[in-house]
Amino acid sequence: MEHTFIMIKPDGVQRGLVGEIISRFEKKGFSLKGLKLISVERSFAEKHYEDLSAKPFFHGLVEYIISGPVVAMIWEGKNVVVTGRKIIGATNPSDSAPGTIRGDYAVEIGRNVIHGSDSVESARKEIALWFPDGPVNWQSSLHPWIYE
Ligand code: PPS
Repeated sequence: MEHTFIMIKPDGVQRGLVGEIISRFEKKGFSLKGLKLISVERSFAEKHYEDLSAKPFFHGLVEYIISGPVVAMIWEGKNVVVTGRKIIGATNPSDSAPGTIRGDYAVEIGRNVIHGSDSVESARKEIALWFPDGPVNWQSSLHPWIYE
């Protein structure tokens, strides 16, 4: 089964959106396989976003991510990487459709509430970085009601 890494950014935590965001993934039918509230060091945030280190917004993005605690999660499910990105909405909230998390709760790209892995390979790397022990091994009793 596929996994993705989802992070509620400091603005999402400060604005009290943690429950709402978790609820959207749960109601879809995805399974929570890892969860922690954590304040990360600058070097850790730089590692997470290392592919963007040449971008002009890199410094601001790192400052944003270390500005308060984040909620780091592993979610499991069929096509959870692509579907998770659809639940989150387009990166720039100006382009995010209503009904998506960013479409409903964000205005600016530099405060876009949530991160989701952009590919199965990125998810593998991000989960290894944030959850060295990997996903928690359990299966929801709802499984047969979600998967045929
Ligand atoms: S790019 O330039 O196409 O590689 O960037 P993109 O894929 O659109 O976004 C990658 C992550 O960078 C964040 N981002 C920004 N943060 C702050 N300010 C600006 N201007 C900005 N542009 C992009 C964007 O939210 C993505 O973060 P994550 O956490 O991966 O969603």
